[in-house]
Amino acid sequence: NRVALAFSGGLDTTVCVPLLEEEYGYDEVIGVTVDVGQPKKEFAEAEETAEALDVDNYVVDAREEFADLCLRSVKANATYQGYPLGTALARPVIAQAILDVAIEQDCDAVAHGCTGKGNDQLRFEAVWRDSDLEVIAPVRELGLTREWEMEYAAERDLPVEGGNEGRYSIDTNLWSRSIEGSELEDPATIPEDDIYDWTDNPSGKEAELVDIAFESGEPVALDGEEIDSVELVEALNERAGAHGVGRTDMMEDRMLGLKVRENYEHPAATVLLTAHEALEQLVLTQEERQFKQQVDQQWAQKGYQGLIDAPIVDALEGFIDSTNERVTGTVTVKLEGGHCRPVSRESEYAVYSKSAASFDQEDVQGGITQQDATGVAKYHGFQSRLANTAIENATKD
Ligand code: ARG
Ligand code: SIN
Repeated sequence: NRVALAFSGGLDTTVCVPLLEEEYGYDEVIGVTVDVGQPKKEFAEAEETAEALDVDNYVVDAREEFADLCLRSVKANATYQGYPLGTALARPVIAQAILDVAIEQDCDAVAHGCTGKGNDQLRFEAVWRDSDLEVIAPVRELGLTREWEMEYAAERDLPVEGGNEGRYSIDTNLWSRSIEGSELEDPATIPEDDIYDWTDNPSGKEAELVDIAFESGEPVALDGEEIDSVELVEALNERAGAHGVGRTDMMEDRMLGLKVRENYEHPAATVLLTAHEALEQLVLTQEERQFKQQVDQQWAQKGYQGLIDAPIVDALEGFIDSTNERVTGTVTVKLEGGHCRPVSRESEYAVYSKSAASFDQEDVQGGITQQDATGVAKYHGFQSRLANTAIENATKD
């Protein structure tokens, strides 16, 4: 019997290999590494580790599919408590790719190296439990700790990376890099700068402008040049990362209810989310924006849960896509000192009348003049004034 293991070559998934054979009695473990845009060196490491473990490792390229999902999340301005959902959105994509390989390779089971404390177990299994294959979670089922895993790996001479990186549990893809564990688990510990790999310390670097053109809510060009989604995100990770843009250090409420300290870096996500929202500010009406915030929040919630296939997501995207038909235009953002902010925006769909808003012009569009606001100004706050007078009178003596 065979089991397909979600394999990254990291500590958790490496110790899972002998455990699946010895504790669970599988004759053969195959590894599956899914490419969702993690740095190339991670594949070399996974390949090396798989070879040393004598495991066949399959690599599936899901970059485009994942990038498309990331861009859907931009249309929804999607963040969860401030984090742009990189790990969360990647999980259903990875889980499906592994399931496909498992079925194709006649496996009886699928396995992951997630703990019983996190979100990832839920996201993986939401996809896998829709199949007939058995689902195995060795780290959770055997109650393993990272400390135990490190000792076990040392005893067995398993090929795991030592050094600084090995202290942390790191998850990387096109959209974000997450760093957890070790001393970072103490919310009061100030992280060393070297936990960050994509973002530089921005001090002293000269500011830079970036132009992003959108068509119906999707970014299509960078500085006037058309670009495909994977390349766009890679380019922005480089450029904005050099300015230290997109670091998040937060307390995150996980699905199980645990609060955990999380560190993330996500330069491209920050730039695209910032630019997209700036364009929505220009082209959507006030009530569309207000309602969309609620829709967006629901979308982000399902994204965080790894339930992007839920029927409600389709329904939410009905509203998101229809409002985004007009999110066409160009935004310039400024990258400076760890920040990214919009500094210019234009669109043929702008809900904006210069003559109406300008301090330099007398008439408002459509024959309305400044004097017409007098009646509105007289009424504004009328109820509050009445209520306050009533309170004053009633509590006089
Ligand atoms: N808590 C985050 C999430 O739920 C990220 C977890 C990433 N995993 C890791 N081993 N660093 O999306
Ligand atoms: C884990 O617990 O396996 C990683 C973190 C998470 O799933 O949230």
